[in-house]
Amino acid sequence: PDPGWTVDADVVVVGSGVAGLTVALRYAELEPAAKVLVVTKDGLSSGSTRWAQGGIAAVLDPHDTPEEHLNDTLVAGVGLCDVRAVRTLVTDGPGALRRLMDRGARFDRTGDGELQLGREGGHRRRRIVHAGGDATGAEVQRALVEAVRAGSIEVIEHALVLDLIKDAQGRARGVTLHVMGEGARDGVGAVHARAVVLATGGMGQVYAVTTNPVVSTADGVALALRAGAVVRDIEFVQFHPTVLWLGAGSTGQQPLISEAVRGEGAFLIDHEGERFMTGVHELADLAPRDVVTKAITRRMRETGREHVYLDGRHFGREMWETRFPTIYAACREHGIDPVTEPIPVAPAAHYASGGVRTDLRGRTSIDGLYACGEVACTGVHGANRLASNSLLEGLVFAERIAEDIHAVRPSPGDPVPATAQEGLVDPRVRSRIQAHMSAGASVLRSRESLMETARALRDARWTPVAVPPRTESWEATNLLTVATALTGAAAARLETRGSHWREDHDVRDDNEWLGHLDVTLTEEGL
Ligand code: SIN
Repeated sequence: PDPGWTVDADVVVVGSGVAGLTVALRYAELEPAAKVLVVTKDGLSSGSTRWAQGGIAAVLDPHDTPEEHLNDTLVAGVGLCDVRAVRTLVTDGPGALRRLMDRGARFDRTGDGELQLGREGGHRRRRIVHAGGDATGAEVQRALVEAVRAGSIEVIEHALVLDLIKDAQGRARGVTLHVMGEGARDGVGAVHARAVVLATGGMGQVYAVTTNPVVSTADGVALALRAGAVVRDIEFVQFHPTVLWLGAGSTGQQPLISEAVRGEGAFLIDHEGERFMTGVHELADLAPRDVVTKAITRRMRETGREHVYLDGRHFGREMWETRFPTIYAACREHGIDPVTEPIPVAPAAHYASGGVRTDLRGRTSIDGLYACGEVACTGVHGANRLASNSLLEGLVFAERIAEDIHAVRPSPGDPVPATAQEGLVDPRVRSRIQAHMSAGASVLRSRESLMETARALRDARWTPVAVPPRTESWEATNLLTVATALTGAAAARLETRGSHWREDHDVRDDNEWLGHLDVTLTEEGL
């Protein structure tokens, strides 16, 4: 559709989680006279960041070292992390965290005023900073939104990003948006800018059961694919091991039971009460996330059950109420008292370790287009992200992006009118896509299951009548594009590594597969 209105900015940031808001704030500090515009699909606070529980991993304990944080990250990433990116993450992390505190975020402290440090899967040290016990993301989001509201950064809410606008040389020159009910800016419009930062978050809604909010529909990765950008490692979707099991057939966003609960000593048991993580890994219940998810899935298959249990009864009521108030409230809301009974849990889609490929400055393969946070693949996560490295990645790389745009001062040419996006899919296919992805491209995959999923996704594309351009249609189209790319990459990787588990190729193959799969969309398809 043709844009009905146009707005000019120096930098447009798409998305308002930790990554997007930190880019905007840092750029506004570097260039106070510049016009920085944040556009976001729902309200400023509706993305994934506010749901984060565990915290932010950073080396703050005097006995800990960046080298140890680096090693834990590399082990979790199973050979596919970019060591330079991880080194940047772990060395710049503590400074980025301090600047977040300068921007107003308040974290839990011990009686003598030191930051309280928790532990999670794959970490051999206590290094997780948290807020409100288990409400870290909510505090980060609150602080950043307040800082943005207090400054000169402009915001357009209820603005779904559609496509990248380029100049004649193929450099990023802005985005088209569909805005719902923002006064003069209603309907489809365009933002023209010198640099575009994608910070649109994740893609959990590709699956039927996820920890991600309803807005996590892969819009940034879909935009990047349509624009011709390189997307990397998209097959590595992380399934969080312990998500509250709400009964057979429950779909959509489900309550997370943070790894920090296991970090404080809770443990997994099966229906017979057996602790099945002992002997699976030297870190037992605190093994990296992919290892725990696989062990749970195996145990569920062996026992024919749909969940296992997380036992934290020994914490007692006071600890549940003070250290894990969010989780305690979610359990009680669903009729479970974690003080007197173990919590039913099962894995659910949680985090995209891959995404739009970037370098260490957040640059994508398209000039002037940057990607930050979950939408990006900076190389820090490899085949399986280490717990609590995601808010950290958002903070560290957001600052680098703002500094790069400031240093480079991109000067693209005139915008070339965007070609209309064809082939929107019927929004009613959304639940079909999710069901097929959960059935065939989930924790455990095989050639057969992936082929079946790919076939079902091809069928879902067909629609008998032209679909009206509405948010729901664009979201369904984005989900289908990314689900297709993910399934294709998962079918191509003939090994088991990190969060990619192939039943028919059940071992890691460092000879053939110690490398990345890059996906691009050409006229012939993915
Ligand atoms: C959790 O609290 O278990 C989630 C932390 C994360 O995904 O990094």
